[in-house]
Amino acid sequence: MTIQSSVWLGTANLPRYQALDADQEADVVVVGGGLIGLTTALHLQQEGVGVVLLEGGRIGTRTSGNTTGKVTSQHGALYAKLLDRHGRDVARQYGAANQEAVDEVDNIVRQLGIECELSRGPSYVYSTGDLREEAAAARELGLPAHEADPSEMGLPLSAASAVRFDNQLQLHPARYLTGLAAAFTRAGGRIFEHSRVTDLDSEGEGVVARTESGRRVVARHAVAATLLPFGTLGGYFARTRPSQSHGIAVKLPVQAPTAMTISADAPTRSTRPWPGGGPSGLIVVGGDHETGAQEDTNASYQGLVDWVDQLWGTTVQPEYRWSAEDYSTPDQLPYVGKAPGSPVLVATGMHKWGLSNGTVAAGILRDLVLDRSNRWSDVFDAGRIGDARSVAKLVQDNLKVGKEFVAGHTRRLLGAGLDHVEVGEGGLYDLDGTTVGAYRDHAGTLHTVVPVCTHLGCPLRWNQGDSTWDCNCHGSRFTPEGTVLDGPTTTPLKKPED
Ligand SMILES: Cc1cc2nc3c(=O)[nH]c(=O)nc-3n(C[C@H](O)[C@H](O)[C@H](O)COP(=O)(O)OP(=O)(O)OC[C@H]3O[C@@H](n4cnc5c(N)ncnc54)[C@H](O)[C@@H]3O)c2cc1C
Ligand code: FES
Repeated sequence: MTIQSSVWLGTANLPRYQALDADQEADVVVVGGGLIGLTTALHLQQEGVGVVLLEGGRIGTRTSGNTTGKVTSQHGALYAKLLDRHGRDVARQYGAANQEAVDEVDNIVRQLGIECELSRGPSYVYSTGDLREEAAAARELGLPAHEADPSEMGLPLSAASAVRFDNQLQLHPARYLTGLAAAFTRAGGRIFEHSRVTDLDSEGEGVVARTESGRRVVARHAVAATLLPFGTLGGYFARTRPSQSHGIAVKLPVQAPTAMTISADAPTRSTRPWPGGGPSGLIVVGGDHETGAQEDTNASYQGLVDWVDQLWGTTVQPEYRWSAEDYSTPDQLPYVGKAPGSPVLVATGMHKWGLSNGTVAAGILRDLVLDRSNRWSDVFDAGRIGDARSVAKLVQDNLKVGKEFVAGHTRRLLGAGLDHVEVGEGGLYDLDGTTVGAYRDHAGTLHTVVPVCTHLGCPLRWNQGDSTWDCNCHGSRFTPEGTVLDGPTTTPLKKPED
């Protein structure tokens, strides 16, 4: 049987924390307990700054707990494109920042003694085309890059070219996050789970974070490390795109390749060994599509399985399968720093490389709070989205998006009435002339919601493979009961009876 969970969350024991049940004061309030929030909180607490971390669900269980677990400066075949688009200086700084992050994660693991299956090894990007320009660009920028023979990778496929980055890192991300959280609380940091923040506002010299329960944290500084800044904060929802990827963990009939690999050509196929699966254990991630753009996400999982079956001439049954989303920016560089027109510090747009980019981001956020300079803050600058006025206009223009989108959207109704919703089936149904979202779980319970996103009102699409309601406008995701999983929204879905 395939377990619907990332192999990491299925094999880690993330600590649990109480919800915020009394108002708190802190030097810094960090919102979001993924890699960026936890790393930033730990850095600050270790410097003697009192931090409260507020997490909407459980720490480490969203994108950071669902990654491929590669910590590398090799971000696909990126460097020739970066050089071309941004010039040598910016491309060099991006590469150097991420290469340093590889060593920083290694140091954190060793200093804190985190047991997270950390190992060093080569990482490859390969193509049926010519990657010599990519190899040359990465080398010119000072990265440990080499043109490689694709047969070195140990994948039974024919590629025309490959680029190898030496001495990159892979780890068990959920165990790494567990170690970060433990070190943070040992240093005196406070974590509250199930405490979704709905507003971050200026108050006096500082900020106040209000949670859905009405409890508040008053602090001198606030960091929103929420994958995408929530609500309309900074206008980032309008300048990023959400993309979902799928992952499987399988056991091959032979020893699995030990290197990390990723295809430069579409469809993306990213592989790495799965240590918990023994010598034949392999993780494959890919099947990318915009969040909320595809109903039959089972097809994305099947695409990964078919790829494995075809390459190794076998029929695998995944032991785990999972999906997650991340955001990309128009110019391929993350946004990290102060949001225009707001006192809040943000980090978003990691382009599915947030284990290294996010480690860089945490260093920038720490230095901004401590009023120190940081070598990478210009390249990652969150302020390049525009000044406060242009962001206000951007937000205003986008407030209409949801309503226009609803009006022009054709909805595929599965049927009239809810009696015929089969176990495990979900989608849109007509109920006395009103469209409702419905799903019948495996215990036979029917869950119904108003299938309209609570962020800016876009229509939701049922995601059959993951049993979630997903929004294509800016990536909010909800459970069948309407609880917020991800995204800029902070409000659960309405019930048809409300
Ligand atoms: C399938 C997949 C594979 C990937 N593989 C890799 C890889 O191998 N290497 C790599 O470098 N990168 C990888 N990435 C990218 C990387 O995982 C992300 O960039 C990174 O995890 C982002 O970290 P984060 O802390 O911003 O987000 P998250 O881990 O999503 O953390 C954000 C947290 O904020 C919480 N939150 C949100 N809103 C609120 C609110 N209003 N109040 C309170 N809490 C809130 C969420 O519940 C969540 O816990 C991958 C991404 C995907 C999708
Ligand atoms: S995420 Fe913005 S409208 Fe749904």
